Amino acid sequence: MKLWGGRFSKATDGLVDDFHSSITFDQRLYRQDITGSIAHATMLGEQGIIPQSDADAIVEGLKDILKDADAGKITWHVDAEDIHMNVETLLTERIGDAGKRLHTGRSRNDQVALDTHMYAKIACLDTIAMLEDLIGALLDTAENHLHTIMPGYTHLQKAQPITLAHHLMAYVQMFLRDRTRFQHALQSADVMPLGSGALAGTTYPLNRERVADLLDFSSISQNSLDGVADRDYLLDYMAGASIAMMHLSRFCEELILWNTNEFHFVEMDDAFSTGSSIMPQKKNPDVAELIRGKTGRVYGDLLALLTTMKGLPLAYNKDMQEDKEAFFDSRDTLVKSLTVFTAMFKTLTFRTETMLKGAAGGFTNATDLADYLVRQGVPFRDAHRVVGELVAHCVKQDKAILDLSLPELQAFHPAFQPDVYEAISLEACVERRSIPGAPAPEMVKNSIDAARKLLNS
Ligand code: ARG
Repeated sequence: MKLWGGRFSKATDGLVDDFHSSITFDQRLYRQDITGSIAHATMLGEQGIIPQSDADAIVEGLKDILKDADAGKITWHVDAEDIHMNVETLLTERIGDAGKRLHTGRSRNDQVALDTHMYAKIACLDTIAMLEDLIGALLDTAENHLHTIMPGYTHLQKAQPITLAHHLMAYVQMFLRDRTRFQHALQSADVMPLGSGALAGTTYPLNRERVADLLDFSSISQNSLDGVADRDYLLDYMAGASIAMMHLSRFCEELILWNTNEFHFVEMDDAFSTGSSIMPQKKNPDVAELIRGKTGRVYGDLLALLTTMKGLPLAYNKDMQEDKEAFFDSRDTLVKSLTVFTAMFKTLTFRTETMLKGAAGGFTNATDLADYLVRQGVPFRDAHRVVGELVAHCVKQDKAILDLSLPELQAFHPAFQPDVYEAISLEACVERRSIPGAPAPEMVKNSIDAARKLLNS
């Protein structure tokens, strides 16, 4: 008979057991469920709500179940519906009547909220640690490439010279913001909901602070309806995961481009590339492509739960059981993607010669040529037109700006002097961009140092 079977005169239809049971996926919460119950029983004993001897028996019984579950010795049963009733049923089988007192002053509604809060906290901490790993790898590489010049792009057209360090540091900023988002998700998960009961708290004198303390929560939830109806802490994680995946995906897209024969800015390691079953020459960036591809499913997970939640009246509704698969999938996909991305990134070989050559083509120093004229007293709008004409001339002649002689330059504007060549060298273009946030090596070094400080804080 079901734990809730008192008012029923028939067994649940097999189809229903199969349909509504969540044990196939919520067994993943067994550790949180059991430790949560240990804290609840401990508090029930301390408060004199159940006899101390029963509390002790429950705690011992639960510890044994946890040990067996860790050892893979427990078979979870679909007809016991979910992890909560599986554990409770098993406990009573093992310790007898004392087990029947565990659920005093508690509902599965606040129990599942507790379990998922606990699980989400760990997920946030793991994710933050993995982001920090990735950021550390990016900072190390950036530090080695402060002077590695490459073309910067807008519209995927060469725009202005930057450095590889500067480019990598753009991603560091994104992942630092992701880290902040997971710190926030951690805060929303770090609220202890037990004591909300089914929806309206309970008449027993529970010590909610004590349970929070035992389970290492910073605070308790302030409204029993919200305590069981809230899934923001999962949505916070999934929203953060969606944005982090979007960042990873953009990075992957660039690495896929950079790894092409046409760009050839990077060479991917053989260990992180795959071949073709028909084309013997192929070496494909499958890992990067797959991360880009998996981004869609993480968005899907977020959208699925947002949609599940949007029409639910307070408080608990069974729809909310749909939170777990989406959340687990979001967490697993992000964690796997971060792990493999960081490993792949560490094995990349950067083709710095090709990057430099790339920066030398495509008139990436044209803005700097206009800025040169401005320093000679020419208004910027005039300088822009002059350089535009000059570039059109170079395109016709298939030349770079630096290929033109001084008289050729002066035919476009008399203000050009011999020092113009030095002024528009790629090195000068980068070095002159020396305001905070710009690619000059000392500025990028500053932002590397600032990021390291932030990581260690
Ligand atoms: N398996 C359920 C879930 O994941 C646990 C809570 C069930 N509560 C209820 N009143 N049916 O949401």
